[in-house]
Amino acid sequence: MSIQETRIVLKNAGKINPLSIDDYIRAGGYAGLRKALQMNPADVIDELMEAGLRGRGGAGFSTGMKQKFTSESCQRCPQRYVVVNADEGEPGTFKDRIIMEQDPHLYLEGTIIAAWAIQATQAYIYIRGEYHESIDKTQKAIEDAYAAGFLGKNILGSGFDLDVEIRLGAGSYLCGEELTMLESLEGKRGNPRIKPPFPAEKGVFGMPTLVNNVETLANAPLIIANGREWYRQFGTERSPGTKIFTISGQVNKPGHYEVPLGVPLQDLIDLAGGMRNGKKFKAALLGGAAGTFVDASMLGEKMTYDNLREKGATLGSGAIIVMAEGDPVYDILHNCLRFFRHESCGKCVPCRVGTTQLVKQADQLKSANGDRKKILEQMVLESQIMAGTSLCPLGQSPILPLESAAKYFSKELCTTHH
Ligand SMILES: Cc1cc2nc3c(=O)[nH]c(=O)nc-3n(C[C@H](O)[C@H](O)[C@H](O)COP(=O)(O)O)c2cc1C
Ligand code: SF4
Repeated sequence: MSIQETRIVLKNAGKINPLSIDDYIRAGGYAGLRKALQMNPADVIDELMEAGLRGRGGAGFSTGMKQKFTSESCQRCPQRYVVVNADEGEPGTFKDRIIMEQDPHLYLEGTIIAAWAIQATQAYIYIRGEYHESIDKTQKAIEDAYAAGFLGKNILGSGFDLDVEIRLGAGSYLCGEELTMLESLEGKRGNPRIKPPFPAEKGVFGMPTLVNNVETLANAPLIIANGREWYRQFGTERSPGTKIFTISGQVNKPGHYEVPLGVPLQDLIDLAGGMRNGKKFKAALLGGAAGTFVDASMLGEKMTYDNLREKGATLGSGAIIVMAEGDPVYDILHNCLRFFRHESCGKCVPCRVGTTQLVKQADQLKSANGDRKKILEQMVLESQIMAGTSLCPLGQSPILPLESAAKYFSKELCTTHH
């Protein structure tokens, strides 16, 4: 096996006691925060922007840019917020859980740095309620950070104040979507808001809000402590740094793997111990349910945001679900469509009716009746209409697995035996 993991975000994972702030500090922890507090907030933003850090929650948007928008919007607003997206609802994704369970101070430090950068005095960490260990360890990290003077009033004598509180999600996938999360944080039902305004302009409680994913924030202390040049030695020009991929399915060693962005898909499968029992690779679903199927022709492709987008695929959250020769693509596709039906909030017609309709058509695709090719074409068409007319990104998502499954596996999907 040629490729090794490159652990920078996970450098402490399994090596330090995640419940010990002293262990974290001994491993170099809070050096990034100390440095950031000596810097001008605008320079912190600039450093993250020049390092090329992109959001690890799925969309890959420039983190520095988002911070800049948030810090510059509504100068008269009395409050700014940081919201940490720790909802991790995308099927096949469990990277944030690893960070929260094994090195909670790292992303907490990143949260404090982000708050300093945009001058927010309150942060919320929105964690999915099922993640008991993540919740407990984050809570302990917060308490220890207060006691050590990294949170609360006048942090490390800088004059900067910040409070951090945990809020729990209740199992809704849609509440991982940033605007819906803000509604949930305000105590409302998890329905999305119409964009614009973006959270940077009008976020939680109507104030400018920075929403960042756990893994994104976990990169910030490393960048500030070590500098942009150091960070840019990992990854590619347009996708610098590393990414934690979560690999499941037909591999010998399913799990989480941190590698520089830009490694080919084949290397990731090798890293996960290769195909299970020497089976032949057939397909992978990249990026979870709101992701895309690829076939063996994509094994050599570099895993970066831009390269995959250019090839019609997604990097998304970094989930990779691997299928072997003989595994029915239909089953996974059907699962994705049922997932969207279940998670649709029902607020708008195209998604509420469309997600139900797609499952019905998928059932028909399996039954012996009807012209399967026509049914599949109709499904793709409907998902396109949904993508153009749905209110939020959930209704715009079924097109991703559906169109890509149809692109690579249309013949299989249209035969009698799935
Ligand atoms: C339906 C849906 C679910 C999402 N779930 C998550 C999630 O669980 N965690 C996450 O970080 N981002 C999730 N996102 C993306 C967020 O809306 C947002 O882009 C992200 O939190 C921004 O942080 P980043 O810039 O650090 O990636 C989801 C998006 C959608 C449309
Ligand atoms: S697209 Fe779906 S999830 Fe989004 S608002 Fe409409 S019904 Fe709700």
